[in-house]
Amino acid sequence: MDKLIIQGGGPLRGEVWISGSKNAALPILSATLLSEGLVTVANLPHLQDVTTTIELLGSLGVTVSIDEKMQLEVDNSTLHSRTAPYDLVKTMRASILVLGPLLARYGEANVSFPGGCAIGSRPVDLHLRGLEAMGATIEIEDGYIKARSDGRLVGCHILMDIVSVGATENLMMAAALANGQTVIENAAREPEIVDLANCLNAWGADVQGAGSNRLVINGVESIEGGHFTVMPDRIETGTYLAAAVATRGRVKVTQTDPSSLEAVLLKLQETGAIITQGEDWIELDMKGKRPKAVSLRTAPYPAFPTDMQAQLTAINAVADGTGVVVETIFENRLMQVQELNRMGAVINVEANTAVVTGVERLKAAPVMASDLRASAALVIAALVADGETVVDRIYHIDRGYECIEEKMHLLGARIKRVPG
Ligand code: UD1
Repeated sequence: MDKLIIQGGGPLRGEVWISGSKNAALPILSATLLSEGLVTVANLPHLQDVTTTIELLGSLGVTVSIDEKMQLEVDNSTLHSRTAPYDLVKTMRASILVLGPLLARYGEANVSFPGGCAIGSRPVDLHLRGLEAMGATIEIEDGYIKARSDGRLVGCHILMDIVSVGATENLMMAAALANGQTVIENAAREPEIVDLANCLNAWGADVQGAGSNRLVINGVESIEGGHFTVMPDRIETGTYLAAAVATRGRVKVTQTDPSSLEAVLLKLQETGAIITQGEDWIELDMKGKRPKAVSLRTAPYPAFPTDMQAQLTAINAVADGTGVVVETIFENRLMQVQELNRMGAVINVEANTAVVTGVERLKAAPVMASDLRASAALVIAALVADGETVVDRIYHIDRGYECIEEKMHLLGARIKRVPG
């Protein structure tokens, strides 16, 4: 297993571009299953999760190719299977997103129960209940979700009792080809939901209200396909800015969308960062100062994202003062804490709350990545630690950060990958 070796030291300085959003790309790739015609998707990040999704499409028989502009071209006409197999699904929870599109388009879908990051039990009951409300019959057999629809799914009224990004996406995609109108109340409002709705509409669907908590989807006869460009990754953006804060540096991120990061930028400002922004860039300058500790509570968009919680915990670990971090989305998402404490951080966890008392400097130690965003927190901590930190199990990082060593190099970090 590859490792990252990071020599802690000075501030990050420089400019780095932001890749396409992983969490927008995965549902959009699943949505290609709805289309009758060819679709092309641009600005896909080169990430393990994207490769896994492309493999998943391939295993269904879909023809996927990359054209001369590095755009993915998807042709469904060769699809011959409706089964998302265990081997692929177990490595990536977002594989569940093929359930809605396969069922809506072909009347049949078999998807192995998903795996993914070990950050809590992460059930899929909301996905299944919504599809049943649209008329599907669902059975669980041999570890597989087996969904069937007798003819088209039927539009209906769905109230989600928990705000779920994935369930909103799955049901939106299924409803796009249902008979009649579907209304989803208490829908997730994340920017990736808006990107998916824009994509579906560009390909011929009729989805209204994305970005609000009430989605209205008027089912259409067919989705013709077309082109779509994936939005920039707001979590990657936030991660490089958080690294700049922790290292007291000055970093400009480009090819991004500041409007999707309001809650994160407010918190980073609270640490003492000076932030300037344009339409597609953000510059953050700590003026060489130590960050101030911040307290935060994760919640669905537009509140502070759970996917940035670990990175802010790493900032607090070296900040001036004490920050209280409350994780409300996932029950087991403070796993970075143990590893940070091994590097000299002073963090106490009780239930879903981490109380972080900042120390002046951390010390290098061998640490292990446990999930995607926890890994990002370890990289940030390593950048400010005295000595050489070895981060093991970085396949977690490769699931969500494109070219992390190259991008960190651009900012002056001393970081290298060693094959394990
Ligand atoms: C997505 C993101 C992930 C992010 C999360 C929350 C992708 C590929 N992943 O994950 O990076 O951390 O949103 O912003 O976009 N829940 C249920 N039943 C369900 C579905 C969810 O109880 O059927 C619960 C989950 O256990 C969790 C909460 O709802 O406590 C939110 O999860 P959800 O928004 O569904 O997360 P994902 O879509 O899996």
